[in-house]
Amino acid sequence: MSDTPLIQPAVVGEGVYEEGREASTQNHGHIKSYVRRAGRMSSAQENYYAEMMPKIGVVYAAQQIDLAAVYGRNAPKILEIGTGMGETTAKIADANRGNDYLGVEVHVPGVGALCKQIAERELSNLRICQHDAVEVVRDMLPEASLDGVHVFFPDPWHKARHNKRRLIQSPFVALLASRLKPGGYFHCATDWEAYAHQMLEVLSAESSLANSADGFAPRPDYRPLTKFENRGIRLGHGVWDVIFRKK
Ligand SMILES: C[S@@+](CC[C@H](N)C(=O)[O-])C[C@H]1O[C@@H](n2cnc3c(N)ncnc32)[C@H](O)[C@@H]1O
Repeated sequence: MSDTPLIQPAVVGEGVYEEGREASTQNHGHIKSYVRRAGRMSSAQENYYAEMMPKIGVVYAAQQIDLAAVYGRNAPKILEIGTGMGETTAKIADANRGNDYLGVEVHVPGVGALCKQIAERELSNLRICQHDAVEVVRDMLPEASLDGVHVFFPDPWHKARHNKRRLIQSPFVALLASRLKPGGYFHCATDWEAYAHQMLEVLSAESSLANSADGFAPRPDYRPLTKFENRGIRLGHGVWDVIFRKK
């Protein structure tokens, strides 16, 4: 650990977020699970981003962080990868103030929207790292430091030639599993059936994880239904939850 504060004002440079702009475009040699999406921040998102990121932004650096120091307490630590517009993330953090959450997202308007939620709900247990989650997990999170991992509705990359971009693949799952404490949980959800089966297969093949259910799991109460999911359910579409535990 260096003495550099972990929560600090936005700075511009390699591997850190640039205020109001895209995260670093540096290619660190792995296939990205996302593409840079066009999309401007609304003025509200801009304002909340500027107000909140200096307070709750965890700046990416290729050095391990002490999660207890980031939140100033010892409490269960849950990582969420791909928070999107942040509705689910904020609801979960609000309903579980005894846990600390780290949301990782590259889409800047989504980060702005989540900043708004954090400000409005006065959440002190939710931090955001605006960077590629693969690098955040690899470089910043110590082994056995997490009590849970959420990967909700990751980009499905429908086309066969794009499947390689999916987040839930063996090497990344092994990396994530190494960051979980014994007994910690790994929770994925998707509305894309083929990806659901891939999740089940890949997590089953990871020897340090054990399925908490017999196949797919029922949706636990802590994962709220999204508007999008409710609409899908009305149309008869499926949603699959996959929940494993670290041995
Ligand atoms: C389909 S959206 C789902 C968002 C949210 N979880 C939900 O349920 O509405 C997937 C999100 O993951 C983000 N994402 C994809 N790959 C990522 C990565 N490697 N690091 C951080 N965020 C990523 C995308 O920017 C996108 O916002």
